[in-house]
Amino acid sequence: MIVIETERLQIRTLDESDAPRMAEYRNKREVKQYQSWRHYSVRDAKKLIRMINKYPFRGERYDMMQYAVDIKGGIMIGDLHITMTGKRSFMIGYTFDSLYWHHGYARESVAALIDYMVANYPIKKVLAYIMTYNEASRRLLLDLGFEKFDESKFLREESYQKFIEEDT
Ligand SMILES: CC(C)(COP(=O)(O)OP(=O)(O)OC[C@H]1O[C@@H](n2cnc3c(N)ncnc32)[C@H](O)[C@@H]1OP(=O)(O)O)[C@@H](O)C(=O)NCCC(=O)NCCS
Repeated sequence: MIVIETERLQIRTLDESDAPRMAEYRNKREVKQYQSWRHYSVRDAKKLIRMINKYPFRGERYDMMQYAVDIKGGIMIGDLHITMTGKRSFMIGYTFDSLYWHHGYARESVAALIDYMVANYPIKKVLAYIMTYNEASRRLLLDLGFEKFDESKFLREESYQKFIEEDT
């Protein structure tokens, strides 16, 4: 089901038939180096999709959602993740196939998903966590108006937040 359309992309719910494509790009060395997994299999993707589709998203604390990002009329190029951290805040994550980096697709879809969440839920804050050496992810967050509010040199992690203005 298509949830959001942007100029170049569509953001939609996932089903199990997306698992091979998801595993294909999530298992690339340059993609997984910034993520929590060492290897990403079709089985991992199926498990995630099944889990997400099993529990309805109500916008309550700990609710999760995962979306596919497709080029309009074309291939799936990445996925977006949301975990509600409270009724008014959520954490966002994103993973894109390296073949489709450097076109602004991640910014376009992340910005659209934040707008969608703000329009449909009483969201006041968005959170994101990155590895310190993930320059591309940091640039994306800063471009979208996030600010760094915490870091751990030991864990090599940085925490970012974006407050939602009343009139957005
Ligand atoms: C994080 C990640 C999604 C960023 O991808 P990205 O390609 O840098 O981001 P975008 O798709 O928004 O593209 C932005 C780039 O496209 C350029 N660009 C080209 N056309 C553009 C357009 N129409 N609009 C905006 N930017 C455009 C920008 O100038 C920017 O250039 P840069 O790569 O030189 O900085 C990607 O690196 C990734 O998937 N990494 C692996 C997983 C990961 O790290 N996830 C985050 C964990 S916290």
